[in-house]
Amino acid sequence: MQAFSSEPGTEGPLRAVPGPATRTVWIWASTIAVGGFLFGFDTGVISGALLFIKREFGLTAFEQGSVVSVLLLGAMAGALAAGWLADRLGRRAALGVEGLVFLLGTALAVTATGYWTLVLGRVVLGVAVGAASATVPAYLSEIAPKRIRGRLLTLNQLMITSGILAAYLVNLAFSAGGRWREMIGVGALPALVLLAGAAFWLPETPAWLIARGRVDKARAVLRSIAHPEEVDDLVHRYRSGGRPGPDADPGRSGWRVLLAASVRPALVVGLLLAAVQQFGGINTIIYYAPTVIEGTGISAGNSIFCSVFIGVINLVMTLVAIRFIDTRGRRRLLLVSLAGMTISLVLLGLSFVLVLDPALSLVFMVLYIAAYSAGLGPVFWVLIGEVFPPHARAVGSAASTTVNWLANFVVSLTFLTVVNSVGTGQTFWLFAVVCAFALWFVARYVPETGGREFDEVDTALAERFGRRRPQRTA
Ligand code: BGC
Repeated sequence: MQAFSSEPGTEGPLRAVPGPATRTVWIWASTIAVGGFLFGFDTGVISGALLFIKREFGLTAFEQGSVVSVLLLGAMAGALAAGWLADRLGRRAALGVEGLVFLLGTALAVTATGYWTLVLGRVVLGVAVGAASATVPAYLSEIAPKRIRGRLLTLNQLMITSGILAAYLVNLAFSAGGRWREMIGVGALPALVLLAGAAFWLPETPAWLIARGRVDKARAVLRSIAHPEEVDDLVHRYRSGGRPGPDADPGRSGWRVLLAASVRPALVVGLLLAAVQQFGGINTIIYYAPTVIEGTGISAGNSIFCSVFIGVINLVMTLVAIRFIDTRGRRRLLLVSLAGMTISLVLLGLSFVLVLDPALSLVFMVLYIAAYSAGLGPVFWVLIGEVFPPHARAVGSAASTTVNWLANFVVSLTFLTVVNSVGTGQTFWLFAVVCAFALWFVARYVPETGGREFDEVDTALAERFGRRRPQRTA
């Protein structure tokens, strides 16, 4: 990985991390982001496994749907609990507990003897997925040097998309023998990595340690990732800047801190982006790609291959986002992404309504995925790690993530019904309206967070929400 040095214009805590330390940070970040891999894997693997499970257990259509969607319900509960857990136990211990829950859920699902034991396994897996999806962005943002923070946080989305693709491939590999237990069982390996990382090589974050008064320990961690002369500055910044309001005592953090006037703009941004990420329709393609593609007239076998192709585009365009997120900024990526999603959804809808060539629908679908993966997909997870001040970060990230899972659940549950009542093309137009609204919202209210410390992000948010006189901010 690229080592970097002190450069003009990159001033700030942790600005100039020596090469070996940068490598250490990347190793930590990659381990933490395994939580993202499990998120992608466990949400993706069921589409293939279900084909065989439904035969073995004789599941009805409703039971099949519930095996898929109980994970989303579990994830909501997990995300809700994660903020509390990460504030109480610390980020590192929370991730370790999540690794354990992943293992437990995998074991339950793999050894399921019928519908109910399988549902139980999926709920437990969901709790782990949801909790990890909230903990990972907060954790990553707290160990990341400012200059590469965007790239480190985008690693989460890269791992989510890798997990989805890995699940599609594992499904393909085990589908010959109908070995669904093996498909799900593969998830135990990354879960073990998460657990081992938390037990042996991941650090606790300086922000959490300082909030708990363990300043000496925080200094020790900082010394391994920052220049020695920056350590005091950073400790001071966290001690003062991390507590902007009287209700923001980091020792007593809870949901309450989110309602403080100073945190509200961040909360609006986090919750709204969480909702539009899902109501923009992404998982109707990710979860239902073969069904939607089949609807264009392409055969079932080819549809599965097309969905692997969509998985690849999803991953490749996330790499593009990683390349540009720190240099071009989060805001610009988001704006371009939302504009691209709106246009491709309008065209996708048109291709269904006018019954155009199926190949055209596929092209628009790929364009839509590409636009999503280069912006809204990763940037949402980056922003929920960045917009909240340290004392509200774990709960802010958890609240946004919970809304993301709730919206995911609603869209996944209702998509096929909406398609049946208003038509496929018209449903994509509804998603287009959501993306157009999000485009306006981001242009108006979301500041650039790249290259800024939390106190600077706070000021920029306050200006955009009209709580301070606007200066020219990105
Ligand atoms: C979303 C997931 C989605 C994935 C697709 C993530 O950012 O939160 O719901 O399945 O992107 O790559």
